[in-house]
Amino acid sequence: MRAVRLRELGGPEMLVVEEVETPQPAPGEVLVRVRAAALNHRDVFITRGLYPKVALPAILGSDGAGEIAALGTGVEDLRTGSEIVIDPMLGWGDDPDRWQPDASILGMPRAGTFAQYLVVPSENVHPKPAALSMEEAAAIPLAGLTAYRALHTRGKIRAGETVLIPGIGGGVQTFALLFAKRAGARAIVTSSSNAKLERARMLGADLTLNYANPDWQKEARAAGPIDLAIDSSGGETLGKVLGILRPGGRVVVYGGTHPEATIKLFPLFWNHLTIAGTSMGSPQDFRAMLELFSNDGLKPAIDKVFAMDDVAAAMRRLEEAQQFGKIVLRID
Ligand SMILES: NC(=O)c1ccc[n+]([C@@H]2O[C@H](COP(=O)([O-])OP(=O)(O)OC[C@H]3O[C@@H](n4cnc5c(N)ncnc54)[C@H](OP(=O)(O)O)[C@@H]3O)[C@@H](O)[C@H]2O)c1
Repeated sequence: MRAVRLRELGGPEMLVVEEVETPQPAPGEVLVRVRAAALNHRDVFITRGLYPKVALPAILGSDGAGEIAALGTGVEDLRTGSEIVIDPMLGWGDDPDRWQPDASILGMPRAGTFAQYLVVPSENVHPKPAALSMEEAAAIPLAGLTAYRALHTRGKIRAGETVLIPGIGGGVQTFALLFAKRAGARAIVTSSSNAKLERARMLGADLTLNYANPDWQKEARAAGPIDLAIDSSGGETLGKVLGILRPGGRVVVYGGTHPEATIKLFPLFWNHLTIAGTSMGSPQDFRAMLELFSNDGLKPAIDKVFAMDDVAAAMRRLEEAQQFGKIVLRID
């Protein structure tokens, strides 16, 4: 089969498309013919050695959709030929509140979706929502799961609330916007790019603010109480967000683009604020998230679709934060 492999560190340019042996499903696993995959920042971090425990050579890719090509022994509830989408969270465990210490994410160390075939545990494949193309389905898993858990399971968003989503260019953040609107919430989004803010308005954002403007916090606060924020930018942004939440408000953090945040403690304790952390999501979160795409025509925001051979260019686009929505790889 053809696969994108990372043999040595050094950034997206080090990825090579080559022939490798097609894997075979072990008992309890399925072989998937991948039709489309999608990129996450994790993939870029791995190519640069900025991710824990990088093991090479590796086939990257956490997001994918395709068809079941073969079943391992003992898999009886699935059929070959079924169109599926893959949950990239491996071994979450039984506790819906947190993953098990040995849980992992598809795409290093386990071979990922940037290949014509991969094997995954049978419980990690789910029917592809019928209304979605392979490319749309592939765009959803990691970012959709993370956004769903951040907004719903951890953030407990309610209809009529206002949610602040800083840095709408992020893959997870576009899903947070889609899900917030779906939940009947008002959405305030920020970006460094006016073009991305325009795209966000088209997805339903109620107020869009350029965070290069030093007055963005004032403008956000003037628009009414902010109940919830979903943040991955960290740095100075987390403190700014805490400064404009309503008393009793909450912020859910799932990433650290700027990994160290300095916050003022006064607004935190005086306003009875809550900071919650989250990562990926449980199998229950994944099913509930996918359900949103099975009804009423919800579609992920796709930035651009690249051919598998152009994976390095696709990753550079992500690394340079040029994208709005998900960057997809077509796996021919
Ligand atoms: N814990 C988990 O399960 C999990 C899951 C997914 C991602 N993550 C992490 O979350 C982070 C973002 O992931 P992603 O895939 O969404 O990355 P991404 O697509 O590269 O998004 C990064 C975005 O952050 C925004 N940003 C940068 N500096 C900012 C600032 N000062 N204020 C506000 N926004 C700022 C930018 O938005 P604009 O372009 O709009 O300015 C940029 O597009 C990464 O650290 C990633 O590793 C964690």
